[in-house]
Amino acid sequence: MNGESKMYQDLDRILVNRDEIREKVKELGKRITEDYKGKSPVMVCILKGACMFFTDLIREVDLPLSIDFMAISSYGKATKTSGVVRVLKDLDQDVLGKDVIIVEDIVDTGVTLSYLMEMLVHRGAASLKVAALLDKTARRKVPDLKVDYVCFDIPDAFVVGYGLDFDQKYRNLPDIGVLSPKVYGDA
Ligand code: IMP
Repeated sequence: MNGESKMYQDLDRILVNRDEIREKVKELGKRITEDYKGKSPVMVCILKGACMFFTDLIREVDLPLSIDFMAISSYGKATKTSGVVRVLKDLDQDVLGKDVIIVEDIVDTGVTLSYLMEMLVHRGAASLKVAALLDKTARRKVPDLKVDYVCFDIPDAFVVGYGLDFDQKYRNLPDIGVLSPKVYGDA
């Protein structure tokens, strides 16, 4: 898909393009490979938003890792969090004693992530780190939240593409762009 796709007309601008994404994901894969040398971490994809980031990232990590998936409730047809986090699909494996890396698409207020981290710590993970594609630090509501690996710090804007959606759309855009407010109105 290229910039001629009709979906690009709903963007104000492209924030991070596919080449920049590829480069950063590669870098992050190397860091994780170094940091977890001699270990077999469980990399957990938070569905659906992190799906593309996840599949690209794990192929850049040279370790005998395992993967698992979790689905969490998202905003639905809105651009702001409701503050209520629901687990729609849980992990298949027990994380007791395991080195877990949560792979998230974006950390916004931090509510979703802090809930998830608390849950996995409670289940007895030996260690827990977070890899996020995007971080909107300006909007953080959970101030002491530590995001260990971040690909891009972004400004306070609603973004779509490369897995991120608005009302389940735009996930298949290969680049990340700022959604034009005319598309979502007051959502
Ligand atoms: P938080 O709980 O406010 O940190 O929200 C995190 C979740 O909200 C992410 O995993 C996304 O699913 C969603 N989200 C937050 N900001 C955006 C955005 O700009 N575009 C698309 N989804 C977003």
